[in-house]
Amino acid sequence: MSDDESLRPATLAAQALGWIEPSTRDLVPPIHPSASYERAADGSYPGGHSYTRDQNPTYDQVEALLARLEGGASALLFASGMAAGTTVFETLPHGAHVIAPDVMYWTLRLWMRDLAERDRIELDFVPTGDLDALRARLRPGRTALVWLETPANPTTTITDLAAAAEIAHAAGARVVADGTLATPALTRPLELGVDLVMHSATKQLNGHADVLAGALVTAREDETWARIRHERGYRGAVLGPFEAWLLLRGMRTLFLRVPASCRGAQRVAEALARHPAVSEVFYPGLPDHPGRAVAARQMKGGFGCLLSFRVEGGEARARAVASSLRVIKQATSLGGVESLVEHRASIEGPGTPVPPDLLRLSIGIEDPDDLVADLEQALSRA
Ligand SMILES: Cc1ncc(COP(=O)(O)O)c(C=O)c1O
Repeated sequence: MSDDESLRPATLAAQALGWIEPSTRDLVPPIHPSASYERAADGSYPGGHSYTRDQNPTYDQVEALLARLEGGASALLFASGMAAGTTVFETLPHGAHVIAPDVMYWTLRLWMRDLAERDRIELDFVPTGDLDALRARLRPGRTALVWLETPANPTTTITDLAAAAEIAHAAGARVVADGTLATPALTRPLELGVDLVMHSATKQLNGHADVLAGALVTAREDETWARIRHERGYRGAVLGPFEAWLLLRGMRTLFLRVPASCRGAQRVAEALARHPAVSEVFYPGLPDHPGRAVAARQMKGGFGCLLSFRVEGGEARARAVASSLRVIKQATSLGGVESLVEHRASIEGPGTPVPPDLLRLSIGIEDPDDLVADLEQALSRA
């Protein structure tokens, strides 16, 4: 693997760290399906692996690449983004105080609320991106964890990671950022002071909508990281070797796909912002987005593949627009090469903070003119 510090992230990703199989000289790493590894006569593990629930050579390359792209000390793959996120909470003492944003990935938010209802944690939600509210809710010496997500799914609300991390650290809290929507191609949260980055690698890291995967990346190999590593093994929340291999293949084109989808999303957002049937567009690349200045500082080279918009005429019309799209597919998830639309409130269900007339778009790598034309025909038909 390449230890050349001067190589840029796009080169490291394209060449998967320049890894070459030592005996056969494969450029593409093999898949290691073995669940178990032979011990030497002295009881040691000369291959460095014992059992796949703890570690598999197919994960090693993906983890090394992801750690390098994030500028972290170490990375761990998980069976899904949810498996990665929920494992962080296993490191917390019983009753630990946690602060999370009120708009964030919905299922993780529901899961945190469930934990709080069972008294496993004490939980405060603060308005996403609101640093004053974060400061006010922190309990110095008591708050164990501050969860951040930027841009937030689905409203694209921006959080100033450096400022939030500084405020949280001053109160002694650990900071975790869900970096799924930005990816390390746009934002490197660890460089901004965040302690752990979490990814749903199902999304743009893999990019082809054919793998369910998650990851954590740490700034430091500390006690918490050791605990996370153990928890992954205890819980068996690991990825299959084939999925890890597919993920590595997807990550090689990250630096092509992310700029392409950012360009498409920017073009679509601008077209929607001018459309009379659209009441509001949420995209940090638009000049009137409240988080635009912070996003321009902490997202390098684009504002992400995700945007949302509200349709004049309410929920029924919004749903009719989603159903009238022909090129953009109506499906959940984001970050793939194909553009998707989703009526978010009906997926999130009761209690969602998402307006009923909101449609979320994940922009892929198609020609943006086709996406704009599709949205225009759907908005005029609905
Ligand atoms: C921002 C964000 N974080 C986490 C997740 C959960 O990831 P997974 O579906 O891989 O469990 C998602 C899934 O949509 C997401 O959008």
